[in-house]
Amino acid sequence: MNQIYSEREHARECAFESVWSNDIPDVFADVAKYYDRANAYATLGLIDGLRQRFISTIELRPNDRVLDVCAGTNVIGIDLLKKQSSLDVYAVDRSASMQEVGRQRAEKQGFRINSTICDVHELPYPDNHFDVVTLQFATRHLRAIKVFSEVLRVLKPGGHFYHCDMLRPANKMIEQIYYMYLKVCVTAVARAFGSGSAALRCRDYFINAIRMFYSTEELAHVLSELTFSEVVGRSVLAGTVGFHKARKSAI
Ligand SMILES: C[S@@+](CC[C@H](N)C(=O)[O-])C[C@H]1O[C@@H](n2cnc3c(N)ncnc32)[C@H](O)[C@@H]1O
Repeated sequence: MNQIYSEREHARECAFESVWSNDIPDVFADVAKYYDRANAYATLGLIDGLRQRFISTIELRPNDRVLDVCAGTNVIGIDLLKKQSSLDVYAVDRSASMQEVGRQRAEKQGFRINSTICDVHELPYPDNHFDVVTLQFATRHLRAIKVFSEVLRVLKPGGHFYHCDMLRPANKMIEQIYYMYLKVCVTAVARAFGSGSAALRCRDYFINAIRMFYSTEELAHVLSELTFSEVVGRSVLAGTVGFHKARKSAI
């Protein structure tokens, strides 16, 4: 791995390890019941359209085995099943509360998603197992290189990884405006939904996690360095969000 990215990962880990281990699990246990409504509120309803844009980039074949990493409330798994109902969908997330909300949502719509509760730094699946792996809105809370290596391991040769997250905008002015917006947003959501103490403690973290994260171009380099091929990164909403598609090379 390029030294610049190894050093960035090390710096992220040193800065955030305690938040990732101690606060993030409490945040998602607390927000699970209002997570989807809070996202809609914070993005003024933009989140659904954004997710549909991401979903539209995902190519599926009937009966594909799909893994959604950090699946949360199963928004991705459910949308993929709406697109291709014969899929065999797996969800993995550390938060039992988020996955319980996700299980109920899927069931209400007549879908079944196989759920595993665990830390995604070690994926509990065999090598070369999935046709498609997705990961949306979570990598900034993770050791990215470790998790991407696991994604590569569990993908079948020729399989595809689709990634979407809030990224660090390459344009400095947009970056500053973005952080101001996030500050207002996190405070407004906390007030509107009565967030618990863990979410309040993480107010600065949510911005710093993006400040130390990757731009769209950098994330594409990280994936290429890990030997993913045909890596395509696309900036969305002025680089505040990035979509990436990458393929595991056929042996
Ligand atoms: C912002 S939510 C995103 C959920 C979903 N992907 C979405 O797009 O709505 C982040 C999710 O990542 C999960 N998560 C964070 N760190 C994790 C870890 N180390 N292992 C497993 N799940 C983790 C949280 O529990 C939470 O459900």
